[in-house]
Amino acid sequence: MPNQKSILQSTFLLLLLQVLINVALVSCKSTIEPCSNSDSCNALLGYTLYTDLKVSEVASLFQIDPIALLTANAIDISYPDVEHHILPSHLFLKIPITCSCVDGIRKSVSTHYKTRPSDTLSSIADSIYGGLVSADQIREANSIADPSVLDLGQNLVVPLPCTCFNGTDNSLPAIYLSYVVQPIDSLAAIAARYSTTLTDLMNVNAMGSSAISDGDILAIPIPACASNFPKYASDYGLLVPNGSYAITAGHCVQCSCGSGNLNLYCMPASLAVSCSSMQCKNSNLMLGNVTAQQSSAGCNVTSCTYNGIANGTIMTTLSASLQPRCPGPQQFPPLVAPPTSVPKESLFAPAPSPQSDVGGTITPRSLVPAAGSFPGFSPANGPISSGLASGASDACSLVNPLPILMVALVLLFVKFLIPVAL
Ligand SMILES: *[C@@H]1O[C@H](CO)[C@@H](O)[C@H](O)[C@H]1NC(C)=O
Ligand SMILES: *[C@@H]1O[C@H](CO)[C@@H](O)[C@H](O)[C@H]1NC(C)=O
Ligand SMILES: *[C@@H]1O[C@H](CO)[C@@H](O)[C@H](O)[C@H]1NC(C)=O
Ligand SMILES: *[C@@H]1O[C@H](CO)[C@@H](O)[C@H](O)[C@H]1NC(C)=O
Ligand SMILES: *[C@@H]1O[C@H](CO)[C@@H](O)[C@H](O)[C@H]1NC(C)=O
Repeated sequence: MPNQKSILQSTFLLLLLQVLINVALVSCKSTIEPCSNSDSCNALLGYTLYTDLKVSEVASLFQIDPIALLTANAIDISYPDVEHHILPSHLFLKIPITCSCVDGIRKSVSTHYKTRPSDTLSSIADSIYGGLVSADQIREANSIADPSVLDLGQNLVVPLPCTCFNGTDNSLPAIYLSYVVQPIDSLAAIAARYSTTLTDLMNVNAMGSSAISDGDILAIPIPACASNFPKYASDYGLLVPNGSYAITAGHCVQCSCGSGNLNLYCMPASLAVSCSSMQCKNSNLMLGNVTAQQSSAGCNVTSCTYNGIANGTIMTTLSASLQPRCPGPQQFPPLVAPPTSVPKESLFAPAPSPQSDVGGTITPRSLVPAAGSFPGFSPANGPISSGLASGASDACSLVNPLPILMVALVLLFVKFLIPVAL
């Protein structure tokens, strides 16, 4: 009898152990990313314009630099008066934001909105901010007791979803796009559009199944070029998404990420601002210059690279290396003209991958709106409205693996003790 009991107990415990270990070891990330330190990261918001807006108006809606908005979408900034260019309603844009750690959760809280006549919390959340925030979240963030009475000109904090996940996805540099699921989206189509796998999207968002609903917010990893600036640089941690540009060092330096190798390439920006020296010390090379000399041993490559900005000084690094082959000319991500219309087919078909754009076409493929997006009819009371991660199953989202692992270990101990004791 004791023997049988012991076997039963052991079997039961073994099963329990396996279940617990499985839960603990599935590497899930949650859209609600816990954080503890005060560091921040670059992140992106997927935003669909609710009406025609000037570049500068979209930028001020999120309180970001209009140039940063343009470069993040690989829109050519050399067009005259590009900041006043009118972007068409329904256009899908990537909004570059800073993701911080607030009350132990990753979010962006640098966006404020000044209320206008006839605004309601729902219209601000669902229409103006395209479902990136819910009315409840705005109400909570601003301690609004009665949401039916909004003072005109009231300055509201608009908390926006973002994730950092250490700037990596599967150990490769990545930046995360917060994406609002549109009515005709499927997870597979989103994965294809952003050149990632279904499994990766499910892991990142801690989803137990691939089911998604209109209005859910997903974190989508986008491969990026990582910088390696010293910690004291004010642009420390700069990440530039594949296929795009970023402007840094007070509009003096432009960095890009393209050509498939995911190496950050920075050079002087051609904007009319006064900048500190961008020449490498003890050399006649300027930032971004690369010289190559074929020798019998290989190719002697010398480059002058950007190393961040600190105290208003642009830091440069001169480095020489012997490489098997001489590098070809620098490949830049294709630029698009400021969009004037939303490609018709993109309203009904999933937007193509932003990375699939080849060869300097003018069609703003990376800027097409998310399929079927009609921002006026955004999910007013969709399941997501109450939280950032409704799309995530609770299979692993709120599970902290450490305590479970501890429980599992204790059980393992008990399991081996029982047969001994009996
Ligand atoms: C974060 O990423 C860096 C490389 O970018 C890596 O060295 C480090 O181990 C990562 N940290 C964690 C906690 O994953
Ligand atoms: C060095 O970089 C500067 C600034 O980008 C550029 O104008 C110049 O042509 C480059 N020189 C060489 C030799 O590549
Ligand atoms: C490579 O070039 C740099 C500068 O042009 C020079 O100082 C260095 O000696 C060269 N190295 C080799 C191995 O040729
Ligand atoms: C920047 O300036 C501050 C004071 O002005 C100084 O303490 C700090 O060391 C400087 N940092 C660098 C990287 O030069
Ligand atoms: C980066 O984008 C280019 C096209 O712009 C694409 O060919 C390449 O595969 C992308 N790289 C990664 C790692 O996704």
